[in-house]
Amino acid sequence: MEKLKIEGINKLKGEIKIPGDKSISHRAVMFGSLADGETNIENILLSEDTLRTIECFEEMGVKIDVDKTNNKARIIGSGIYGLKKPTKDLDCGNSGTTMRLLSGILAGQDFSSSLVGDASLSKRPMDRIIIPLTKMGGNIKGANDKYPPLHIYPSKEIRGIEYELPVASAQVKSAIILASIYSKSKSNIIEKKVTRDHTERMLKYFGEGQFIGKEIYVPGDISSAAFFIVGASIIKGSSIRIMDVNINPTRNGIIDVLREMGGNISIENVRNVNNEPMADIDVAYASLKGVNVDENLIGRLIDEIPILAVAAAFAEGTTIIRNAEELKYKETNRIKAMVNELKKMGADIDELPDGLIIHGKKELKPSIVDTYKDHRIAMALSIAALNVQGVSEIKNSECVNISFPSFYSNILDLFE
Ligand code: S3P
Repeated sequence: MEKLKIEGINKLKGEIKIPGDKSISHRAVMFGSLADGETNIENILLSEDTLRTIECFEEMGVKIDVDKTNNKARIIGSGIYGLKKPTKDLDCGNSGTTMRLLSGILAGQDFSSSLVGDASLSKRPMDRIIIPLTKMGGNIKGANDKYPPLHIYPSKEIRGIEYELPVASAQVKSAIILASIYSKSKSNIIEKKVTRDHTERMLKYFGEGQFIGKEIYVPGDISSAAFFIVGASIIKGSSIRIMDVNINPTRNGIIDVLREMGGNISIENVRNVNNEPMADIDVAYASLKGVNVDENLIGRLIDEIPILAVAAAFAEGTTIIRNAEELKYKETNRIKAMVNELKKMGADIDELPDGLIIHGKKELKPSIVDTYKDHRIAMALSIAALNVQGVSEIKNSECVNISFPSFYSNILDLFE
């Protein structure tokens, strides 16, 4: 277990480029593997989670060259029907995206496969994909019909379905879309609440029907940028630029909320890369005010709620976050984790049945905090620690490698 000591700092200053988007990186590997021909991915995130997806496809015979120094990957696609039966269990590690999206693809194969995960993933609900994939004709068995490991057997045929998502989840939507590649009839997926649309965008980019290998540039991950956007907003005297960040409208809710709180954020140089919008983000310190977060925004900032709680803990007044029950089913129960750990730092924060209520304070105190081995909890608490006087200790800080291996070195890039 790595215990990291973090001391409060005066300000964050300068320009950084953060790693590629995790969701887009997973999908680029999946589509590249199913395409005919060669796919070259630049600025791909090579973290614990995305490496699990890469290894799963390698295990199914896809040739993938990874260049860790330059964050590149070259994939020789096997075509939609070219995957080979794996000789061992497919290890998804901590990654819900790997397990849920891959299940959609595997449901349409003529071989059996098993998907396993680590202790955290093994407790996360998989019935949300087992149910719709079974309705499509898939043959999937989970422990107690609900949890990993998942065993997926060949089915007679995959059929399209009409399905209204019972939980707002891009992973469920994507699993259905990917299974639909193997169905002759159309699927109609209805989502009442917005979730990220990277699968739909990439499907169009690779060409619906038959996928052709492509060149892809993965824009920076707004969920990773969010730690620095909040850091610069709450640490007095800060002023930073984050280069090349994905600002997909299904993902940028954190910017809307921080602006409503009084944040000083501007979006510059908007451009398009392989069907995704990308921009540079300028952020300067601002005195934030608490807000009642619009319930319709939750899907657009679901992964940013831990760091939003940190912003709220330092804002003037009360912030209420509701309709966020899904946080209980992430890598850890993120509602409980943020309440427990921010309380240790002296924050006035309480749990609601579906969210959080936070009364902001000018100052918090240094503390020893736990990450529950959840990358986003680790990074949110680290940013909070940067804004208190004295030395805090972050337990199990190495879990940042799940999504953002350069997180701590990127912080150092912004020290003057
Ligand atoms: C993801 C979807 C979201 C998100 C996760 C990545 C994706 O999960 O929290 O980090 O890449 O599709 P849900 O689909 O469970 O909301």
